Amino acid sequence: MNLRLARAADIPALHALIAASVEVLQARDYSDVQRAAALTTVFGVDTQLIADGTYFVVEARDTLVGCGGWSFRRTLHGSDHGAHRDDTQLDPARDAARIRAFFVDPAWARRGIGSLILEACEQAARRAGFASLELAATLTGVALYRARGFIEIDRTEVPLAGGERLPIMRMQKRL
Ligand SMILES: CC(C)(COP(=O)(O)OP(=O)(O)OC[C@H]1O[C@@H](n2cnc3c(N)ncnc32)[C@H](O)[C@@H]1OP(=O)(O)O)[C@@H](O)C(=O)NCCC(=O)NCCS
Repeated sequence: MNLRLARAADIPALHALIAASVEVLQARDYSDVQRAAALTTVFGVDTQLIADGTYFVVEARDTLVGCGGWSFRRTLHGSDHGAHRDDTQLDPARDAARIRAFFVDPAWARRGIGSLILEACEQAARRAGFASLELAATLTGVALYRARGFIEIDRTEVPLAGGERLPIMRMQKRL
């Protein structure tokens, strides 16, 4: 497996990876209707992260099998089409860096790919001067972040199209 920064040329493959990950791995936590609605706004590619050089991919046999990133910008979750985007920069002395948009290919789940990307994100955020991390975890993602020392702050919901709502968990970690 090879970890590297994502590039714009990866975007079509990222769309396919994210859709497969949501479809299979989140099926025990969210309904078909929730997952379909969330794929338009919440789960997807945030091209700002790729442009910032803060989004990683993992390749195996020349195929993308995982992705995830961190951010020095205020947006906490969501794709390019998310409702509450805020690209202002965080202050490392005061704010928590964001952990963003982790998705693993279902055929490659539970092989340490999420942990590998998270470790790279933690190191990069620490190098940028941040002392803590914050994220909005899917219910599917909570176990990974708990295993890596994140603690749960509060459970909240993201409004989706068609009146649906997506329960998520805000989590934090000190670096
Ligand atoms: C969440 C996700 C990224 C985890 O990726 P992963 O590569 O499977 O995670 P890892 O193999 O690094 O898991 C590390 C540890 O996290 C915990 N963990 C991860 N997935 C788990 C699960 N389904 N059930 C219980 N524990 C789990 C375990 O402690 C695991 O260690 P172990 O396998 O030695 O027991 C993956 O399940 C995924 O893509 N889910 C769908 C998309 C999503 O909801 N992403 C989260 C966005 S916040």
